[in-house]
Amino acid sequence: MEDAASAHIAQLQQQIDSLKEQLVQAQRLTALGELLGTTTHEFNNVLMTVINYAKMGMRHRDAPTRDKCFDKIFNAGNRAAKITNTVLGMARNRAASQEPTDLKALVENTLILLEREMNKYRITLDKSFPKVPQAYVNGNQIQQVLLNLLINARQAMPNGGRLAIKLRHDTKEGMVDLVVRDYGSGIPPEKLPRIFDSFYTTKSGPDASGKGGTGLGLSMCRDIIEAHHGRIQVQSTLGKGTAFTLKLPTATKATRKRTPVAAPLTPVPGLVSQPVE
Ligand SMILES: Nc1ncnc2c1ncn2[C@@H]1O[C@H](COP(=O)(O)OP(=O)(O)O)[C@@H](O)[C@H]1O
Ligand SMILES: [Mg+2]
Repeated sequence: MEDAASAHIAQLQQQIDSLKEQLVQAQRLTALGELLGTTTHEFNNVLMTVINYAKMGMRHRDAPTRDKCFDKIFNAGNRAAKITNTVLGMARNRAASQEPTDLKALVENTLILLEREMNKYRITLDKSFPKVPQAYVNGNQIQQVLLNLLINARQAMPNGGRLAIKLRHDTKEGMVDLVVRDYGSGIPPEKLPRIFDSFYTTKSGPDASGKGGTGLGLSMCRDIIEAHHGRIQVQSTLGKGTAFTLKLPTATKATRKRTPVAAPLTPVPGLVSQPVE
């Protein structure tokens, strides 16, 4: 009898493991799908710039106009290269290798991918990037987290608005904080505890840009941040907006005390119900 029960438990455990594996796969595909949608539009935008300035250069043969056209085409080409590099990096990078990373550069590169989208939805970016230590992270994964937070923030402001992105050095804890703060709808307190659950969404489906509506974004964010021994915290006020804070270990902290822990602590995401600043 007991044997049968434990066999049954083992079988259930196996099913859970396999479902978890499928969930990770679904999260990865969702993120990649959204990234492809974003980058294809951005890439198209770059191509339009190249084509239009090439046409202009062919029409106007004077040197100053041609110089200007070459300059625009050159810049657009560089932007296109950054866009394809990000996509290739994310599609390729399955291994979770972490290294000292300049978060300012990482944020800027991520924003390149969203330039057109943020313009289209009339989102103004407010960046505050003081000098902070390097963080010990997997750049592609943090970029994925950032993309989801930025797109969620954009979706919380359907009529446009301000989106603040901040870097901060938490000297006490040896962490670098990356804050994404929107001035959008906010999240009702009763819904806040559920936002990190897989498949929890309040969106009826993907929006006009093909994003969101799966409820997989924040659960993926949390998994990634926990794998980095970091924390993800949220503060929100209905009608005022939401701030997500990623706390990531600095490179010095991470390399100094990376001693194996027997049972890794599973930090509960910081559900702080106090108002956003
Ligand atoms: N910045 C935000 N402002 C308001 N609500 C948010 C914000 N970010 C997340 N949410 C809420 O959390 C839910 C889950 O987010 P997420 O896991 O990214 O899934 P999805 O974007 O597919 O809905 C969203 O449906 C939304 O209700
Ligand atoms: Mg989302």
